[in-house]
Parts: sequence; structure tokens; C-alpha cells
Amino acid sequence: MNKLLFTTVLLVVSACSHHNSNASLYQQLGEQEGIEAIVEAFINQIGNDERIFAYFADTHVSRFRDKLILHFCDISDGPCVYDGDNMVDIHTGMNITEGDFNHTVDLLIAAMNEVGVSHRVQNRLLARLAPLRDEMIYI
Ligand code: HEM
Repeated sequence: MNKLLFTTVLLVVSACSHHNSNASLYQQLGEQEGIEAIVEAFINQIGNDERIFAYFADTHVSRFRDKLILHFCDISDGPCVYDGDNMVDIHTGMNITEGDFNHTVDLLIAAMNEVGVSHRVQNRLLARLAPLRDEMIYI
């Protein structure tokens, strides 16, 4: 097989596996390593955003990191069981506005862009987070 044909075959095979609809969202996010990278970038985004960081002034970052990784792993059908506080309990009393919720989602999107998550996969994760919105704002 000549080199060009071989390269073409490789590209087609990898394009197909990329669009493999049987892949779980967890796999598409890059499994544990990929989720860790997203959460790390997200925490940096929050740290650089005065408005959202204000909510996290008294937060233990290492716990937040661990629990968020676990939460994303769980909701993306990965092999984890989220054992942190439930979404209502943890966010009660924060009085998160709709605007601040949306802005936090923008920071997550920026984090996912930074680590190279495709928009198709980003949308799959966001679709699972969106229904949680009402459990968090104005409580
Ligand atoms: C769908 C969106 C969100 C998800 C999935 C989410 C998830 C989580 C998780 C898993 C934790 C850790 C819970 C634990 O420690 O047991 C947490 C904590 C926290 N979240 Fe959220 N969150 C979301 C949106 C937001 C928004 C919009 C804000 C504020 C603008 C926010 C502020 C916080 C803060 C400040 C903590 C730390 C609380 C503490 O220090 O004990 N979250 N969140």
C-alpha cells in the first residue's frame, strides 16, 4: 500500500471512530484524564473571573475539584458514583442569579474550548447540565 493511500485509510478510520455514536459521553470527554483537564481549566477560568470567583471565596478548591470531577464522570455515564453534596443543598443560600449561572456556563465552555473538546461533545455535556439550572438559581 502506498503511503498516501495508507494515510487516507487511517484518516477515514479515525474520522469514523470519532463519530462513533456508541461512544459514551464519558469516552467522548476523554475519560478520567479528559474530565480532569476540563475541570482544571474551568477552575482557572473561575479564578480569573472576579464576578464568579466571589461565590468561591470560602471554598476549599481541592474538594470542589474532586467533587466536580466525580459529578461530571457520573453524569457522563462514566464509572463513578457522585458522593458530594446534592445540587440543591450545596447551592442553597448562594442566591445565584440567572445571569451568573449563564456566565458560569460560558466559563465552562471557554474551559472546554481551551482543552479542545469538540462543540458536538460540549453540547452533549451542556444538555445534561441544563436541567440542573432550576435546582440552583435564586435559592
Ligand atoms: C450546572 C451547573 C453546576 C454544577 C453541575 C455544579 C456542581 C457543583 C459541585 C459538584 C460542587 C461540589 C459539591 C461538594 O463539595 O460536595 C459545587 C460546589 C459549588 N458550586 Fe456549583 N455547580 C454548578 C453551578 C454553579 C454556579 C452557577 C455557581 C455560582 C455562580 C456555583 C457555585 C458553587 C460554589 C461556590 C461551590 C462550593 C461550595 C462550598 O464551598 O462548599 N455552582 N457545585
